[in-house]
Amino acid sequence: MPPSATPPNPTDPPHPDVLVLGGGLMGLVTAWRAARRGLRTALADPEPGGGAGRVAAGMLAAVTELHHGEETLLGLNLASARRYPDFVAELEEASGLDAGYRACGTLAVALDADDRAHLRELHALQVRCGLESVWLPGRECRRLEPMLAPGVRGGLRVDGDHQTDPRRLTAALLVACERAGVAFHRTRATRLTVAGGRATGAELADGTRIAAGSTVLAAGSLSGRLAGVPDEVRPPVRPVKGQVLRLRLPRMPRGSPAFLSRTVRAVVRGGPLYLVPRENGELVVGATTEELGWDTTVTAGGVYELLRDAHELVPGLTELPLVETCAGLRPASPDNAPLLGPTALPGLLLATGHFRNGVLLTPITGDALAEALTTGRLPEEARPFSPDRFAPGAGAPAAPGRVLQEQQV
Ligand code: GLY
Repeated sequence: MPPSATPPNPTDPPHPDVLVLGGGLMGLVTAWRAARRGLRTALADPEPGGGAGRVAAGMLAAVTELHHGEETLLGLNLASARRYPDFVAELEEASGLDAGYRACGTLAVALDADDRAHLRELHALQVRCGLESVWLPGRECRRLEPMLAPGVRGGLRVDGDHQTDPRRLTAALLVACERAGVAFHRTRATRLTVAGGRATGAELADGTRIAAGSTVLAAGSLSGRLAGVPDEVRPPVRPVKGQVLRLRLPRMPRGSPAFLSRTVRAVVRGGPLYLVPRENGELVVGATTEELGWDTTVTAGGVYELLRDAHELVPGLTELPLVETCAGLRPASPDNAPLLGPTALPGLLLATGHFRNGVLLTPITGDALAEALTTGRLPEEARPFSPDRFAPGAGAPAAPGRVLQEQQV
């Protein structure tokens, strides 16, 4: 019997083997994968399908979002990117819904000499890491994407960085969970319950107490705030705000080139900017990076900066209808890498801290947590991301990501 499976006792009311706290992408994928492995699974969230995934653009940007010092995280990101096609096929089969995956590639461009130097450095790092990335002169970038500004100074063509639509992915995961028998409690968890030195489940805002063999805390940036979690295992996550815009692309006559045919990224005035075109006509423009606690206000300044920078990159974009503005909170950890798997408190596991890579890391997170729930061990590729690296007395983390000393670009 797997470690999370509880021996049936006919006199007890049935209780789940696994209780997942949080119904964003990480909670849903964990619940789905656990249920698929035969574990009785429950999930608590007042609005499953919410969270940062409602806001995210859905870039699967293992190569173009590479940063110095994050080579171990790169390994996890690439492993998850490789799983995407099969993961999506399985999810679409299980849910009957389109999960919004698009293998379109990415072009990262430079608008001025500073951006160009930054991109050249990124390219050198990518090459050192053995990644596929091709440097193109500005005119080649414009040949690929004719809507780019004439002043584009060069860019990187990365054919392996794709995208998925996180809202479709979430909707498909919700249905897949329901079909796999996950029991939803549409209310907030208020306290982790602990007895005899192990996590035993949670109390919910409606007064319900759920006892479970294992409890997975997957509440995004809120994961560090749940009452009852002992300090030694409380995840060190904090919210990092991102504002995002959604525009509507023009319907192009059949046979004419798309407005943008792939994800286009740039570093403008030192800040990252990306344009993610969907096949359904949505164009996502993101994102700000703001350390403002729990604030999710969409500000005039945020919208202005995104549109100003996006207009520099693709001047024709200001003609498009602006259909949505929103802001979400990335769950950031001290080293920018996720916290996955068992904690030092038996019965408590984490799936949080995914920061900029939540959508990308969805497949591998589900697999890693399901493996830990059924065998008690993380798979090899996820071991560097054990929450133990932040345990008191663990010393400096073994750097799966890097320690954040500055705002990331
Ligand atoms: N990965 C994109 C972002 O966090 O803005």
